[in-house]
Amino acid sequence: MPQQKKYILGIESSCDDTAAAVLCNGKILSNIVASQEVHVKYGGVVPELASRAHQKNIVPVIDLALKEAGITKNDLDAVAFTRGPGLLGSLLVGTSFAKSLALGLGIPLIDVNHMQAHILAHFIEEEGYSKPSFPFLALTISGGHTQIVKVSNYFEMEVIGETLDDAVGEAFDKSAKILGLPYPGGPLIDKYAQLGNPEAFHFPKPKVGDLNFSFSGLKTSVLYFIQKKTKEDPAFIEQNLEDLCASIQYTIVNILMDKLKKAVKQTGIRQIAIAGGVSANSGIRSTLKAAEAKFGWKSYIPKFEYTTDNAAMIAIAGYYKFLEEDFADMSVAATARIQM
Ligand code: KG4
Ligand code: ZN
Repeated sequence: MPQQKKYILGIESSCDDTAAAVLCNGKILSNIVASQEVHVKYGGVVPELASRAHQKNIVPVIDLALKEAGITKNDLDAVAFTRGPGLLGSLLVGTSFAKSLALGLGIPLIDVNHMQAHILAHFIEEEGYSKPSFPFLALTISGGHTQIVKVSNYFEMEVIGETLDDAVGEAFDKSAKILGLPYPGGPLIDKYAQLGNPEAFHFPKPKVGDLNFSFSGLKTSVLYFIQKKTKEDPAFIEQNLEDLCASIQYTIVNILMDKLKKAVKQTGIRQIAIAGGVSANSGIRSTLKAAEAKFGWKSYIPKFEYTTDNAAMIAIAGYYKFLEEDFADMSVAATARIQM
């Protein structure tokens, strides 16, 4: 008997991207993201401006997602949305819209944890991409989070290590800012790093116990190093930008790899999946690929468009909840901080 088609609309509005996607039985039919340029001139996300931009973008973004998927809202079987974690004012926009749409259409409403969704993006059906099998370790690296998660099942996830201060994305963005690069600087550090010598400059690695991370010290040592060097030579950054970026990236990748190796040793799990915006980083991708041959790991690297914030990951997480009939009721509220 042919499988019945189930259409899930995913809505993501936790930070500064307004996103909507339509999923049909594990396959993505459309994946729309409206990024907010308004924050660039402030060098970081301004929560109140993000919330206002979500309000402006949400209707056209959802409309386009439905159009590109070739369906209308009446074909939808459920609406999934990001409940948290994230910026409250931003989350409220997606949450309120999802609630009214589900209520109006008389279909189930599904709340999704943004961090779980980053990991579940690995279960989107895509040609050329295989899905990890349980259990696996997820390294969740974004602008807001740095976690090592033991994933035993779709919704059975345990955080076994996390950052005690800055997230890895912040380490990239703040270092980039010190180098005079615009926000978000992570992709730019990556771009210049590919042309530089990763061992040109040495930055200390933090001493943090267990499987936890710390990135605030790196930012400070980059700052002091740059202040000292530019005092001696005002053109220092300009003349060494590629080597600086390569060295900063190399230090960050090493910090992540050290803890991953420790996590593999502790758990005996050798399947590693990366998730979150920073998993777009070329240094992390190539180091993990190399670890397959070097340490006998199997690494899973998501398709680029499913790494940074997107609604396809919300739709796939919603789909697995849909299959279990794990629905939310109308009292569900946006929640800035939620645990796995
Ligand atoms: O997951 P994401 O889109 O948003 C959050 O939930 O935080 O992650 C955004 C973060 C930013 O800090 C950005 O600089 C970083 O991901 N990022 C990168 C790269 N692409 C995005 N960092 C390093 N290398 C990249 N190629
Ligand atoms: Zn994210």
